Amino acid sequence: LRLVVLYGGVSAEHDVSRVSAAHVLAAADRDKYTMVPVGVDKNGVWHRNDAVAAAIAAGEPLPNRLDVEGPEVDPLHVVRGDGELTVVLPLLHGPHGEDGTVQGMLELFKVPYVGCGVLGSALCMDKAMAKEVAARAGIPQCDWITFRDGVDDARNIVDRAINELGLPIFVKPANMGSSVGVSRAGTADELDKAINVALRYDDVVVLEEAVTAREIEVGVLGNNAPDTTFPGEIKAGSDFYDYEDKYVTGAAELMIPAPLDDAAVTQVRELAADAFTALRCAGMARVDFFYEEGGRGWLLNEINTIPGFTPSSMYPKMWENSGIAYPDLIDRLVALALE
Ligand code: DAL
Ligand code: MG
Repeated sequence: LRLVVLYGGVSAEHDVSRVSAAHVLAAADRDKYTMVPVGVDKNGVWHRNDAVAAAIAAGEPLPNRLDVEGPEVDPLHVVRGDGELTVVLPLLHGPHGEDGTVQGMLELFKVPYVGCGVLGSALCMDKAMAKEVAARAGIPQCDWITFRDGVDDARNIVDRAINELGLPIFVKPANMGSSVGVSRAGTADELDKAINVALRYDDVVVLEEAVTAREIEVGVLGNNAPDTTFPGEIKAGSDFYDYEDKYVTGAAELMIPAPLDDAAVTQVRELAADAFTALRCAGMARVDFFYEEGGRGWLLNEINTIPGFTPSSMYPKMWENSGIAYPDLIDRLVALALE
């Protein structure tokens, strides 16, 4: 089976994706797959990384982060192959990768691929739409409002947000990941600035109340009636679990499994599967929660349809803890793509 692994991409999570792909390719069973690494550069041009393919074929170790290099290829041609059964693994985090665009291309040309389809991808990528759908499905969440540039009244957004949500407030671009463009605003002035930062990434911004809660994540794997992992917990190293914490300083502390009682574990695993289903996910996702102990309990934070696969990423680690080793996880994902 030909496994085309897409990485890099045009989004601000380009570098994260290059690390994710390096670890997936290193972990996948080299006897089962003809691996075709394809790097998408920051301009959206696709490159077939023959050097990495050769290293895999020769049984050599891979770098920790893949370069985007090699001959330029036509996306349609490389995903179709020449009649050989092909599955595409899009490891492109963020817009134009995780948002349904690449998935739409693959649907159109009937190429099986790992992970969520067009609707699930698009919904989960857009934090504003994801919240609307999750709310409708009765999944508990923190309080939020959205602001759409050029549509909503910009004059009183700061006052309105403070009235409705109190301070501090988290400000996020609707479409982005890895906490890129996210800030925590403690004053009206900071809130104004934070909105402008988020607007650099998207014209829709989500403003959320800052909850004081534990951060718990659950891995989901499957199509209908999916399996879930034991939850994992993150203790942020800085103000919040930001980009530096995730990939640069590695200051965040990860606890797998999270120390929780059995009832709480059962609840959050059920909620994770419910959220996955409500948002039309398939294949895989990592569902992130806040746990407000003594308060509202479980609150959905967000769903990541192409979760990180870096050495500090929770999704593969949580599956390992729940009994599915990294190479087997890849086999399961490929099998789900072909279902
Ligand atoms: N968006 C990053 C890659 C994650 O959710 O892990
Ligand atoms: Mg995310």
